[in-house]
Amino acid sequence: MNIDDIRTVCVVGAGNMGHQISLHLALYGYRTLCTDISEAALEKAGVFARSYLKGRVEKGKLTEDKAAEALGNLRFTSDLQEAVGSADYVIEAAVEKINVKRELFAELDRFAPEHAILATNSSFIVSSRIADFTNRPDKVVNLHFFNPALVMKLVEVVQGPHVSDETCALSIELCRKIDKVPVHIRKEVDGFLLNRILWAIKREAQWLYDMGVASFEDIDKACVYGLGHPMGPFRLEDLTGIDLNYILAMEKFKKTGNQADLPSPSLVERYVKGEYGEKTGKGWYEYKK
Ligand code: CAA
Repeated sequence: MNIDDIRTVCVVGAGNMGHQISLHLALYGYRTLCTDISEAALEKAGVFARSYLKGRVEKGKLTEDKAAEALGNLRFTSDLQEAVGSADYVIEAAVEKINVKRELFAELDRFAPEHAILATNSSFIVSSRIADFTNRPDKVVNLHFFNPALVMKLVEVVQGPHVSDETCALSIELCRKIDKVPVHIRKEVDGFLLNRILWAIKREAQWLYDMGVASFEDIDKACVYGLGHPMGPFRLEDLTGIDLNYILAMEKFKKTGNQADLPSPSLVERYVKGEYGEKTGKGWYEYKK
C-alpha cells in the first residue's frame, strides 16, 4: 500500500480521544468514519465537531468552506461493520481494557479490507498483546495521540517485533500528512516514551503533595512558572482524566508489584467519588460546564 492509497480512516471510539482524532483527520481531507457502541457518545462528538468548526471560523482560523468540507468528510455511525468496511486505516480509541480490545481487533480484522492497517491509540497496551487476535499481526501497531488530540502535535508510533516496516513507515507518513509530529519508538516499552517522562514528574509531584510539602495548586504553579510547562501535573490529570490515570497506575502496579506505582490515596479518593476531572466538572480543580 502507498500513502496515497489511504483515503478512508475509521476511528473506533468517540470518547475523550476518538472524537478529536476523527475531527482532525476530517480537517485534513480524510473521509472519516467515527464509530462507537454508544449513540450518546456519537451524538456528543457530532455536537462538538459542529461547535468546534464554527468556533474556528469565528476565530478566523478556518474558512467556512474548509469547515464545511471537514464536516462533509466526517460521518458517525454505531454500525462497526459499516464504519470499518471501506477503511484503509483504522484507529482504535476505545476503553483501555485488554479483553475489549482483543475482541474488537478480532472484529476489525473480520470487517476491514485486507490491506487496512489496524492501529490502537492505547496509552499503555502494547499492540503485540492484541495483534495475535487478528490474521494480520504485521499490520497492527500502536499510534498514540496526546490529549487534546486536535492540538497536541506528538504521535508515538510504536514498532513492536510483529509490526512490518511498511506498516510503521505508512503510519509515520500518515501522521505527517495530518500535520502531526511522529516519533518512532523502536521497542515496545511500558508507557512508551512520553508517559514514562510524565510518570517521573507526576510521581514526584504527588509525593510532594502527599507529604504536605505544598498544595497541589502551588506544585502546578511551580511547573508552569518555573519550567514553562503549559499546565502543571495535577491540572494535566484533570485534562487526561483521573479515571485514566488511576487505571494507568493500577496497570503499572500489576506489572511491577512496586508499592510506589500504586495510585496515591488522594487520587483513589477522587476516582471513587467519580471526580474524573474536566469531563465530570470536578477533579483536582472544579470546572464550570
Ligand atoms: N480541544 C481542542 N482544542 C483546544 C482544547 C481542547 N480541549 N483546549 C485548547 N484548545 C486549543 C484552543 O482552541 C487554542 O487554539 P488556537 O490557539 O489555534 O486558537 C489553543 O488550543 C490554545 O488554547 P487556550 O488559549 O484556550 O489555552 P492554553 O493556551 O492554555 O492551551 C492546552 C490549552 C493546549 C491544553 C495547553 O494547556 C497544553 O498544551 N496543555 C498540556 C497538554 C498535555 O500535556 N497533553 C499531553 C497529555 S498526556 C496524554 O495525553 C497521554 C496519555 O496517554 C494520557
